[in-house]
Amino acid sequence: MNDTANLSLRKIGDKEFKQLSEFIEDEVGIKLPEVKRSLLESRLQKRLKILGIVDFKEYCNHVFHSTEGATEVLEMIDAITTNKTDFMREPAHFEYMVHEALPEIVKTRASINLWSAACSSGQEPYNMAMFMEEFIHKNRAVNYSVIATDISKSSLQKAQEAVYNNRDIEVVSDRFKKQYFLKSRKAGSELVRIKPEIRKQVTFQGINLMKEHYGLSGKFDIVFCRNVLIYFNKENQARVIQRIIDHMTDGAYLFLGHSESLAGMRNHLVSVGSSVYRKESN
Ligand SMILES: C[S@@+](CC[C@H](N)C(=O)[O-])C[C@H]1O[C@@H](n2cnc3c(N)ncnc32)[C@H](O)[C@@H]1O
Repeated sequence: MNDTANLSLRKIGDKEFKQLSEFIEDEVGIKLPEVKRSLLESRLQKRLKILGIVDFKEYCNHVFHSTEGATEVLEMIDAITTNKTDFMREPAHFEYMVHEALPEIVKTRASINLWSAACSSGQEPYNMAMFMEEFIHKNRAVNYSVIATDISKSSLQKAQEAVYNNRDIEVVSDRFKKQYFLKSRKAGSELVRIKPEIRKQVTFQGINLMKEHYGLSGKFDIVFCRNVLIYFNKENQARVIQRIIDHMTDGAYLFLGHSESLAGMRNHLVSVGSSVYRKESN
């Protein structure tokens, strides 16, 4: 077999699959059972290629026993995370935020802290800021800031650039497009950028939800943690939820993805809507 053919056919052995899948679940929470073997294999092909590594045995040596191992772990995490996201994803949540959550919160607070806890490439936190602007415009002036965190460094980089394609904003209303997006001045360009007044409200930070301490200061009134817990086992889901609750003010709202639930978990959250929870006072 020549080298090129070899490069396209790197298979992961049992030992290496066990080693990598256990490490990834411990480190970032993402479950990789046997049925995900080919997914892991395919997502890591590019890393092996870039590093000029011939097989997964050598890759494991590189990750676990070389001086560049820690750097490679970050690249590996980037390669294995699923970063699928969209503007206006699960739009009922933004409606709930504007019409139910914010009117309650502003009764007692003039400054609102929001957190997008797995923000991917930024569509979710920018949408949160846009809907804050809508609320402010229709109701009353409040200060707010959005912290947006994720473990994937390439996603965070894209999020910070805030540049998207016209295709990405097809779902956005014309009014929102006009109000919150800038078109590229280059003729024929398909690129759009989030306007600076929205960008300045959102701060990005790398946070691994599996870590004991997130290093976040202050507490949050609105938290979106959507479409990330599905990748974790029940125990890790419960741990992450508890840490998020510790970062929420009394009366704060938590939004999960529509296929995620807190069923069977004991905590200070009450269900107030579809995948929406409110923190009770202790
Ligand atoms: C499918 S995206 C969801 C993005 C957005 N919340 C949404 O609903 O559209 C899942 C995100 O979770 C991030 N993620 C996975 N494991 C994580 C962890 N342990 N800590 C922080 N973020 C993580 C991934 O990098 C990815 O960007």
